[in-house]
Amino acid sequence: MSKPLKQIHLAAHFPGVNNTTVWSDPRAGSHIEFSSFAHFARTAERAKFDFLFLAEGLRLREQGGHIYDLDVVGRPDTFTVLSALAAVTERLGLTGTINSTFNEPYEVARQFASLDHLSGGRAAWNVVTSWDAFTGENFRRGGFLPQEERYSRAKEFLATANELFDSWDGNEIVADQETGVFLRDAKAGAFVHSGQHFDIEGRFNVPRSPQGRPVIFQAGDSDEGREFAASSADAIFSRYADLDTGRAFYTDVKNRLARHGRRPDQLLVLPAATFVLGDTDEEARELAHDVRRQQVSGATALKHLEFVWNRDLSSYDPDGPLPDVDPDVSDTHISKGRAQVRMYRDPLAIAREWRERAEANNWSIRDLVIETGNRQNFIGTPETVARTINDYVQSDAADGFILVPHITPTGLDPFADKVVPLLQEQGVFRTDYEGTTLRDHLGLDAPA
Ligand SMILES: Cc1cc2nc3c(=O)[nH]c(=O)nc-3n(C[C@H](O)[C@H](O)[C@H](O)COP(=O)(O)O)c2cc1C
Repeated sequence: MSKPLKQIHLAAHFPGVNNTTVWSDPRAGSHIEFSSFAHFARTAERAKFDFLFLAEGLRLREQGGHIYDLDVVGRPDTFTVLSALAAVTERLGLTGTINSTFNEPYEVARQFASLDHLSGGRAAWNVVTSWDAFTGENFRRGGFLPQEERYSRAKEFLATANELFDSWDGNEIVADQETGVFLRDAKAGAFVHSGQHFDIEGRFNVPRSPQGRPVIFQAGDSDEGREFAASSADAIFSRYADLDTGRAFYTDVKNRLARHGRRPDQLLVLPAATFVLGDTDEEARELAHDVRRQQVSGATALKHLEFVWNRDLSSYDPDGPLPDVDPDVSDTHISKGRAQVRMYRDPLAIAREWRERAEANNWSIRDLVIETGNRQNFIGTPETVARTINDYVQSDAADGFILVPHITPTGLDPFADKVVPLLQEQGVFRTDYEGTTLRDHLGLDAPA
């Protein structure tokens, strides 16, 4: 008997900051006005997507002491945006990225439980572990948490938040107007937590929410991050959207689950993915090339190279060859608040490899950044894109994708109108929501 087809999960990442977003496109709108968020959410819901996703950035990034200007517009407060979106959507899940380093479990649990109530059970929390002192300065905390402790705090943060969510079982409120009894259990919401990072005690003041707990996402890539996901998350937001790296990542994290007494279907793998559609595959390839050149201007290319070189490269010609000076490997970084800096763990080796590739292909700095940076993942006609996405999911490179269009807020519309119907025809994507909560959409069990 052949294996039944997996159902694809689809989500929409609001394209706020970063050079993925082509703000200079004449079709681009505001990254902060509510009408943009509302348009984007309504498109995702019209297409029956599982959820909308917001990333988080808590400080404007800097390069050589100057702010990275693409950061300025795109990251208003997560709970404010998601609460407003709850009011203009009915079924779409609402996933917010909130770090476990600069917050406190009580306040985050309260915000997510409230969002779950307001949205009728559609809240999800992407737990990230930002730790750098540069971000911490905004909280007067600086580098209070050493990098090696961020996952121990994250784990205890989530465990504590779960204790708070579970401090109500959902049957306490009687509210009987005849007898005058409001609460059945005088201990409702009582909690005590004493641990390495948190020592708190009191009453949680939000009654049990429709999903009991929000759906939990994780988005870190280290061994520790993957273990955290395998032990405690319902889904992973990953960066591996191509077939080979996607399958390797998928196998790795799914294999970790048994050690934590969990089944493979209890952790979904949902990479971020971009797409470019055309009337023919050739036209889509040309469009993808144009988009990539718009995303990587000469100035952006130099800034990107500075993540690795850790030197001021502003005097270099982006259309010229790569610098022959080596990266500065000292501990002071000219780029602050950038996750990429940590991605390039061996700058000398990267610089060597990039120089070789640039020379072999006769690439300029800008060509190199275009070729080695984030490419569009799904390029082609709607038929090609639908087929490729389905092939990837059926061959376990992912359980679905979190799509990041390059135009805000209308970039998702062509995918909703042209690709989704094809996936529906193939019987691999829902034609309507079957349940009301995000757990229903994702096929996740209710929390124990
Ligand atoms: C796909 C992906 C998306 C992420 N998104 C965010 C984000 O929106 N905000 C944030 O502060 N950190 C984000 N992070 C950073 C992680 O939370 C974490 O701090 C970083 O990956 C380092 O952890 P690691 O060593 O386990 O990878 C993201 C990481 C990944 C892999």
